[in-house]
Amino acid sequence: MTLSAPETISPDGASHQALDLLDLFGDGFVRDPYPWLDTLRAEAPVHHDPRTGLWLVSRHEDIRRVLLDPGVFHPDNAQHAVTPLPVGVLRVLARAGFNLPPALANNGTASHPGLRRVVTRFFDARRVAAAVPVIERIADELLAAAWERFDASGEVDLFTSFAQVLPCRVLMELLGIDGVSPATLIRWSDASLELFWGRPTAERQLELAPLVAEFHQWLTRTVRAGAARPGSFVAALAEHRLPGGEPLDVRTAVGACFFVFVAGQSTTGQLIATVLRRALAEDGLWSRVADEPGLAEGWVEEVLRREPPVTTWRRVAARPAELGGVELPEGAQLLLMLMGSGSDPEVFDAPERMCPQRANVRRHLAFGVGRHLCPGATLARTEAAVALRQAARRLPRVRPAAAEDVPMLGLLSFRAPLRVAVERPGQPDAEAQGAQET
Ligand code: HEM
Repeated sequence: MTLSAPETISPDGASHQALDLLDLFGDGFVRDPYPWLDTLRAEAPVHHDPRTGLWLVSRHEDIRRVLLDPGVFHPDNAQHAVTPLPVGVLRVLARAGFNLPPALANNGTASHPGLRRVVTRFFDARRVAAAVPVIERIADELLAAAWERFDASGEVDLFTSFAQVLPCRVLMELLGIDGVSPATLIRWSDASLELFWGRPTAERQLELAPLVAEFHQWLTRTVRAGAARPGSFVAALAEHRLPGGEPLDVRTAVGACFFVFVAGQSTTGQLIATVLRRALAEDGLWSRVADEPGLAEGWVEEVLRREPPVTTWRRVAARPAELGGVELPEGAQLLLMLMGSGSDPEVFDAPERMCPQRANVRRHLAFGVGRHLCPGATLARTEAAVALRQAARRLPRVRPAAAEDVPMLGLLSFRAPLRVAVERPGQPDAEAQGAQET
């Protein structure tokens, strides 16, 4: 059974009964998680979820505490499959040599800072600023193609034609990835997210596993050919030395690539989809955002706060610990509710309102905080702002297509609309055509 919201809450404790019905993968939670997140924060800020065995941590302050205490809360479980993998799937992965040793997000060891520096060098503020013309060029190309693709009903989907593709193409340019098409990289990345963060059926797991295996095998071949393309991310990993001076083993280098190639595109595509969808639905925003300085950036930040693509992240307690008045046992698996923390009224006034000018707009935890703070944050923010501005400039007269039940991606840690359908009123008019041609 899936409730759309825990409406049965009352001060007599019935709320906990409602939380027992919480299904993190259920349609009700995926479509409208806010009432559940509010209840968790207010009634059970550190709550054991019997369905997943995870401890849900929902207050901004507690999440920060966990992320800033890596001595107690380790990142080792960051990439564990939330739905156990059956033997048949493990066999497919093993045949491909699939293995994810500690590399980046799942690495609490001494090799982490050095490996992280390899990543941050590719995405520091200077590199991202220099990439803006590249992002704009690719965005314009995709939007021009989308414009051509309005179908007979006058609709086009800006998720598949634009939001999903832009970050993949940008990442391929910035990291020097070649020998694979963006469509394949997107398919591999989406399959990996679903297999490790989703609740697929056993049959679906068997469909996903070969894609993930193929991805891993391709990465392994690419890493083995290492220095083939000077200046690429793979070449930088080949040049990297561990704290003891030894080179990186192939498996760890593949693990680093696996995470960066997935994190660097799927999450940003999801962010852009939500940014566009919300902007199109907001009265008057689409026409202003094209030219009003700072508005696109402020809007992206509010979406990151209120409706981020990475909704949760995991940690494991290395020893017994107290959190929010709850005693956690050693080994407790924590699910940090990043999305809900952006609506914590202790931190954000009127959290349900989108206020691009809010004073503390950047205090959200959408990119984490501390040692593992997302090194792609500047790139993701920049891409999303450019995507929004260029879409509003190039497609000034579009509007959301007639109301429909938008399909949603609803994984443990990733949430976004899978369709952003827009329609153009009537036939292409001179003004919009003109904008498209400039
Ligand atoms: C909207 C887009 C994105 C969101 C919301 C996001 C969010 C996150 C979060 C929550 C973490 C975990 C933080 C922690 O464990 O404390 C993380 C880590 C990471 N992200 Fe992102 N990310 C995004 C885009 C990107 C991009 C574009 C890249 C690369 C180009 C990237 C690369 C990474 C890496 C390598 C880590 C692991 C860092 C480490 O362990 O030191 N992410 N990200």
